[in-house]
Amino acid sequence: MKVLITGGAGYIGTHCLVELMQAGLVPVVLDNLCNASPDALARVEQITGQQPIFIEGDIRDHRALELAFQAHRPSAVLHLAGLKSVGESVDKPLEYYDNNVVGTLQLLRTMREFDCHRMVFSSSATVYGDPATLPIAEDAPTGGTTNPYGTSKYVIERILQDWAAADSEAQVIALRYFNPVGAHASGLIGEDPQGLPNNLMPFIQRVASGSLERLNIFGDDYDTPDGTGVRDYLHVVDLAQGHLAALQRMEQPEAEGFHAVNLGTGNGISVLQMVKAFEAASGQAVPYSIAPRRPGDIASCFADARHAQEFLGWQARHTLESMCSDAWRWQQFAESRT
Ligand code: NAD
Ligand code: WQD
Repeated sequence: MKVLITGGAGYIGTHCLVELMQAGLVPVVLDNLCNASPDALARVEQITGQQPIFIEGDIRDHRALELAFQAHRPSAVLHLAGLKSVGESVDKPLEYYDNNVVGTLQLLRTMREFDCHRMVFSSSATVYGDPATLPIAEDAPTGGTTNPYGTSKYVIERILQDWAAADSEAQVIALRYFNPVGAHASGLIGEDPQGLPNNLMPFIQRVASGSLERLNIFGDDYDTPDGTGVRDYLHVVDLAQGHLAALQRMEQPEAEGFHAVNLGTGNGISVLQMVKAFEAASGQAVPYSIAPRRPGDIASCFADARHAQEFLGWQARHTLESMCSDAWRWQQFAESRT
């Protein structure tokens, strides 16, 4: 099966590439490299022994999409391309809606033109906003988003629901990721954000390596067991396998229409627990200070992971320890290149 992966050169995309190639599928990457480098694709080749097919192009460029569909006739699309920084989206809302929402519309138009009806979409637990109950199941209210990035994911989900309702052949699985962390066990691919990291795990990695001095923990007075924020961190390889499971599910009966599926472990981990787990896995100290709460943060967020098990036959398997040790291996490799 040929699968177009938009954003396939990025953090999650490269891990999806490895899983798809190892399962015998033929992925075709379309990426404009705004947050990725072709080096990562070379390292995917090192892991899999196969060179991924790569097209440098933008999902908002209808001609580039037409050329990709003409050349490869994919039977499904993994749609990962998007801008993803919450803070940046507040400063640049139009850029975020243009890239994420308009880009998705161009992609859907091209899919319709080429009779392609299957899409797996990178959605996010952010569509739930501040959840009223925990764990969060897929039927919890969505749309209470607090920033343009989150709203772009919510709006895209709504567009995909309408598209699926209008096309009886359409199959859409919106994967609502919780907090992806970690790296491939080879240490050759992982997340390497430009500048100061926004997310917890890359920040901890850089403090452990000594390239940043200390972590600021944003609040220790939340209503959580130790006062720090609780999230559902899942290993990026588990996440990538969830995409493979979604593609395989589309081959089976009753996959038509729009389906939202949480990808998480179902376990909540606090910031302090993550710091301790990373120190144990890396053997390095992670000095921290308690800082004020970060605006827009919620106290706790973790998944009800049962629907993923029932609908996709998928569940997260990696431990917190392997999330940390794989992230640490990757961090050391990433820093050895610079
Ligand atoms: P990433 O930035 O590493 O990957 C996104 C890729 O998309 C990059 O390679 C970038 O160059 C490419 N891209 C962006 N705009 C494009 C465009 N207009 N045309 C073509 N390519 C474009 O991010 P990631 O962490 O791998 O995230 C992948 C997807 O998962 C994103 O849609 C993101 O919003 C979503 N997501 C990520 C997280 C997370 O915590 N990493 C959580 C939930 C959802
Ligand atoms: C996790 C916890 C922070 C950094 C974000 C997006 C979400 C999704 C995943 C894409 C929180 C605390 C963090 C730091 C800290 N992305 N923290 N010090 O906010 O759950 O989710 O990434 O869809 O949309 O909002 O992840 O890693 O930023 O924070 O104390 O330097 O770590 O307060 O409790 P978050 P995160």
